[in-house]
Amino acid sequence: MKNDKVLIFDTTLRDGEQAPGATMSPEEKLEIAFSLERLGVDIIEAGFPVSSKGDFDSVANVARHIKNSYVCGLARCITKDIDAVIESVRPAKHKRIHIFLATSKIHLQHKLKKSQDEIVSMAVDAVKYARKRMDNIEFSPEDASRTEKEFLYRILEAVIKAGATTVNIPDTVGYSTPHEYGTVIAGICMNVPNIGKAVISTHCHDDLGLAVANSLAGVQNGARQVECTINGIGERAGNASMEEIVMGLQTRSDFYGLTTNIKTKEFYRISRMVSKATGFIVPPNKAIIGANAFRHESGIHQDGILKERRTYEIMNPEDVGVPSHEGLVLGKHSGRHAFRDRLKGLGIELPEVDLDKAFARFKDLADKKKEIYDEDLVAIVEDQGHLAHVAFSLVDLISTSGTNIAPQVVVTIAHKGKKQTQKSTGDGPVDACYKAIESVTKLKADLLDYGIKAVTQGKDALGEVTIKVAIEGETVIGRGASTDIIEASAKAYINAINKFVAQKNLKK
Ligand code: KIV
Ligand code: ZN
Repeated sequence: MKNDKVLIFDTTLRDGEQAPGATMSPEEKLEIAFSLERLGVDIIEAGFPVSSKGDFDSVANVARHIKNSYVCGLARCITKDIDAVIESVRPAKHKRIHIFLATSKIHLQHKLKKSQDEIVSMAVDAVKYARKRMDNIEFSPEDASRTEKEFLYRILEAVIKAGATTVNIPDTVGYSTPHEYGTVIAGICMNVPNIGKAVISTHCHDDLGLAVANSLAGVQNGARQVECTINGIGERAGNASMEEIVMGLQTRSDFYGLTTNIKTKEFYRISRMVSKATGFIVPPNKAIIGANAFRHESGIHQDGILKERRTYEIMNPEDVGVPSHEGLVLGKHSGRHAFRDRLKGLGIELPEVDLDKAFARFKDLADKKKEIYDEDLVAIVEDQGHLAHVAFSLVDLISTSGTNIAPQVVVTIAHKGKKQTQKSTGDGPVDACYKAIESVTKLKADLLDYGIKAVTQGKDALGEVTIKVAIEGETVIGRGASTDIIEASAKAYINAINKFVAQKNLKK
């Protein structure tokens, strides 16, 4: 039978969220899960339900809403972990459990202090226990790439016999090389007698920058599921990046001869969404979805592109949903109709009231900025989304600074129908601005991280500020966009405060 389909298993919400500082709110997780479903992901690993009540609820929430993708939860070989997954994914139309146990010598000796026989029996018991309650079982021998081959074959054969339907081969510490990892997968195909009853999966970490190359080597040697994350986020240096793997398979289908169910045009949007939720800015040189991935600077390259795009472009930017820069259709004279059409072209449809608000903001921006790019429109709509549950909103901001004067900022903020103005100085205009906001909101936020990037090109580009703050011990991410970076900074700060207030209200 021809087996040319590679299943895509996304673990952005589980391994991705394990990246230090990548915590996402339940609402953000659900929004991402909907986008993963729309992207065509086959399996969504939604979390590790036993790890906390929040994780359990998040997995259950995803399970209640996702209809087309499998919803999966992670478990150790412990009954209470397995029960937590079974309970949390119960509402899902398609469900899977992912059970793992370390198998390498170093993990057995130092972490688990167990013999190989004990490990096999724990794994088999866990898989049998789960299989009595669920049909779709994935088993991962953690640190598989550093596990003795004979033991790896033995445990895989045993768990498949016990009922595992997918066997995942993690390169947990990102130590493998592509040739080595490919050989592990080929060895499994040849030496595990019942391997035909299970799908082989890859799960590669990026400690040596080889996660994508290793995953593709796995696929070349017989794996038919790839575990990956959007933007490659994950534990330490991250996981294999989904957009790179899928576009690798698609662009070089002449070489791999394999397909996936992924609708690649969704990549740009979901990449931004994950970046927004985690506060991790995508570097401009990131393959596929980085801001420079399809920009040509050198004169020779530009000349080639104008003559024939394929001289320097191996993929169409449109195929991964990058908004086209040629479409500079909007400016200050554009009407509401054109504005709505352009948004529609970007896959954004807003209810009339929200469209009115977005259009007013667009007109404001068009007064300050000659050319409005698609990215500006996306930023306007995203910014507005944040304003939906607004508690505080910026009405006015005056900032004065210079080489020989102390920076001073005056902010006017509206809250529950009242406006309040405060003035402050500080160690720079952003600091002054944050102090002024603090004296209005009466909420002390410690700034943990601050990043700014231009959303579009040119001196009049829209600047997008992303900050991470700690308020009353909670870490919150805020974003704001404006042509004025102090205003963008203020909006990001207010956005973080609003999120904090909304979360606090939810918990009441
Ligand atoms: O990297 C790893 O080994 C894991 C397992 C839980 C599959 O994430
Ligand atoms: Zn992992």
